[in-house]
Amino acid sequence: MQVRRRIKLYISPLLLLFLFVPPMILSQQDLEDENFAVFEDPMTEKFNHLTVHDYTEKVYIGAVNRIYQLSRDLKLEAIAVMGPQEDSPKCPVTRICPNEAKRPTEYHNKALVIDYPQSRLIACGSLFQGICTVHNLNDVTNFVTPANESVVANNSTASTVAFIAQGPKSLPRMHVLYVGVSYTGNGPYRSDVPAVSSRSLDPNNMFAIAHTGVTTGTKVMVNSMSREIYPITYVYGFSSKGFSYFVTVQKKFTDPPKPFISKLIRICHEDVHYYSYTEVPLVCRAPDGTDYNLAQAAYVGRPGSELAVSLGIAAQDDVLFAVFAKSKDESDIYNKPSPNSALCVYALSAVHRKFTQNIQHCFNGFGDRGLDFINPSQNCMVTAYLPSPLKGHGEIFNLAKMMAGHSPKNYSVLTLPD
Ligand SMILES: *[C@@H]1O[C@H](CO)[C@@H](O)[C@H](O)[C@H]1NC(C)=O
Ligand SMILES: *[C@@H]1O[C@H](CO)[C@@H](O)[C@H](O)[C@H]1NC(C)=O
Ligand SMILES: *[C@@H]1O[C@H](CO)[C@@H](O)[C@H](O)[C@H]1NC(C)=O
Ligand SMILES: *[C@@H]1O[C@H](CO)[C@@H](O)[C@H](O)[C@H]1NC(C)=O
Repeated sequence: MQVRRRIKLYISPLLLLFLFVPPMILSQQDLEDENFAVFEDPMTEKFNHLTVHDYTEKVYIGAVNRIYQLSRDLKLEAIAVMGPQEDSPKCPVTRICPNEAKRPTEYHNKALVIDYPQSRLIACGSLFQGICTVHNLNDVTNFVTPANESVVANNSTASTVAFIAQGPKSLPRMHVLYVGVSYTGNGPYRSDVPAVSSRSLDPNNMFAIAHTGVTTGTKVMVNSMSREIYPITYVYGFSSKGFSYFVTVQKKFTDPPKPFISKLIRICHEDVHYYSYTEVPLVCRAPDGTDYNLAQAAYVGRPGSELAVSLGIAAQDDVLFAVFAKSKDESDIYNKPSPNSALCVYALSAVHRKFTQNIQHCFNGFGDRGLDFINPSQNCMVTAYLPSPLKGHGEIFNLAKMMAGHSPKNYSVLTLPD
């Protein structure tokens, strides 16, 4: 148990780098022999998230019931105690529910991000329908709850991915919090929580949907008929060249036999309506034909020179490293990983190009728009030729509204037997 807790601290978010070195580096004995700094807290059940400040190199850990602040050499500086607290699944985010029986409930950290423009730490947890707190970066025990908004998943296991990136320029603050959340059931207070949204970081409007219009806004909901039968797991999020992306695991169709596959979601930063919401499958197929269908973890970084050459890109270009597992069952109908895994690497330039091609293909009248779990699917219609490159402007996406398409094909694979 102790070993697991220590290792968790070391492998995240550098998991992918460690995959290239012998697994020996992860053993506890080695950590001690090499005199590595170690931080552990035997009182804590689990470390959920870790983030390191780019400049101060302070380390923040979101855990069960606690948020830790460590120095760059892993000396404990502060602990914010976040739980257990009196809560009930039947109590709204305002916590006013005099007639509901509350009981001590654990806080599971679901998101931990540094807001660099405003120098603060944002932490979101499962308590109180998934609210977020804002902490002082020099003392995490000093925090406020600036809004009664359900932002993240409300239970210990449902997935949440959150990251800060540019939002529409028309908003008072240019940076927003992008959040992807699995649906956790049909209670009175979770039905309004979008699957993917951009949340405001403006002090006057904290954590609210960044832009709301009459019928649209910076959010996407899975339609009420599909929610229960179409679970989406959010694995990782990042932004690149004017777009935000989520790596997800979803079903291939809403209709049977529904194997699970991995998909990338993309939203244009400038789009206040989320019309630009687009998905492409993320395929990781080994040379022997095995389809590693379930994305487990991912990271955007730079390739080494050899990898760059094999992908046909420059060493400065970003790539998406993603670790996949194959479903336990042959027909991939369960979102449960088998021990076999593979690492696939995609050039972001190729990912970007694939989204653009898919959108153009649709405008040329081929295929359908897919995504019937969000909106009833429609055929693609021939549309006036698009300005290229396809980026930046909301108008273009009025046409591209919510589309699915084909996977990028050029990627490198490394398979890792159990
Ligand atoms: C959240 O709700 C509580 C209880 O109703 C209230 O006291 C508090 O002021 C609210 N917080 C905000 C930021 O509106
Ligand atoms: C969290 O919610 C999901 C979706 O409803 C459910 O499948 C899962 O079992 C829940 N986890 C716990 C620990 O209750
Ligand atoms: C999460 O919300 C759903 C829907 O309201 C509810 O059924 C479930 O019990 C909640 N889970 C927890 C752990 O509060
Ligand atoms: C990817 O594309 C580049 C340039 O088109 C090509 O040189 C390279 O061999 C391809 N790599 C893979 C892994 O398919």
